[in-house]
Amino acid sequence: MKKLILFVDDEPNVLDGLRRMLHDQREIWEMSFVCSVDAALDQLSEVGFDVIVSDVMMPGKDGFEFLKILHGSEKTKNIPVIIVTGSNESALKRRALDVGATDLLSKPVDREDLLARIRSVLRLKLYQDELEDQNKILEQRVKERTIELEDSRRDIIWRLGKVAEFRDEETGNHIVRVAWYCRAIAESLGMGRDFVEMLFLTSPLHDIGKVGIPDEILLKPAKLNHEQRETMRQHCVIGAKIFRQDSKAMKSLFAWRENHSHPGGKKENNPLLKMAASIAETHHEWWDGTGYPRGLAREDIPLESRIVAISDVYDALCSERPYKPAHPERKVIAVISKEVGRHFDPDIYNAFEKSLEEFRRFRAQFADWNGESCS
Ligand SMILES: [Fe+2]
Ligand SMILES: [Fe+2]
Repeated sequence: MKKLILFVDDEPNVLDGLRRMLHDQREIWEMSFVCSVDAALDQLSEVGFDVIVSDVMMPGKDGFEFLKILHGSEKTKNIPVIIVTGSNESALKRRALDVGATDLLSKPVDREDLLARIRSVLRLKLYQDELEDQNKILEQRVKERTIELEDSRRDIIWRLGKVAEFRDEETGNHIVRVAWYCRAIAESLGMGRDFVEMLFLTSPLHDIGKVGIPDEILLKPAKLNHEQRETMRQHCVIGAKIFRQDSKAMKSLFAWRENHSHPGGKKENNPLLKMAASIAETHHEWWDGTGYPRGLAREDIPLESRIVAISDVYDALCSERPYKPAHPERKVIAVISKEVGRHFDPDIYNAFEKSLEEFRRFRAQFADWNGESCS
């Protein structure tokens, strides 16, 4: 492809001289000759030139102003500019270089000199373009890699939630529905995007601690006795430990990049793990302080756990389980509304009520495989 070169000079005879001088280059260069900066800018708005050769002293906009305009625009800032000056004044030449000229040439222009300079800046432009293309490719790769990592992180989190769900339910989409309900409530409360996203990812892990509860208690088809109930309640503590414990073995997983500091790489700084731990630990706390394991009350219970609490109960009551049928939604809402101020935060209940339409959509979309039937 021919290289495009733009010549700017207010003296027509200079332009004519250049045209004649470079006549034999027409096979490899496409050349335009204009007699003012305004005319040059007009051409530049339509054509992407590879090199500009410009005079400095011109009526109207001069060469310095031209350089400033070129450098101020994203489209033209990388076009190399050779400034041609009749002056031998070194201050003027320095100023031209200061405002972004790539090279300088003295009038009267020597043909061989001009050809050598143009070829040299064309080579420079080629390297620059290649570098820019490489950068674009790298940026694209980083973007793709980041999306892949984010997807695999989400995938692992969902599957981790499934581990706990498989132990006591085996089938069903309970954790998927809880995640969507939590998202709807958090959005209705006007929470920021980061909070909503983190809650969406970590709420399915609320019962992860059940992996540490013995089968004879977790799967017991009858009512639990006092001691068994206490053991069952330990799932909150176990869940929090899973996300908080910072064992030597865990640290060794990150040791390979000890010298490459990475934000979020350290477990204690990871907000996602913090929220997961908080939810696993406090999703059975009650607004009035009578819940477990810590007996926290009101705003001492983390917001994320207050949201999970109502979502979890709504879904459990609406769903069929081996030991109970699914309850109709109006009955579920009646039960939950009676618990406002006791089990549930009144503000969260209001957001829950506003989100019920969405909840119904999610229930239909993520119905259990074995026929969850809340109506
Ligand atoms: Fe739980
Ligand atoms: Fe649950």
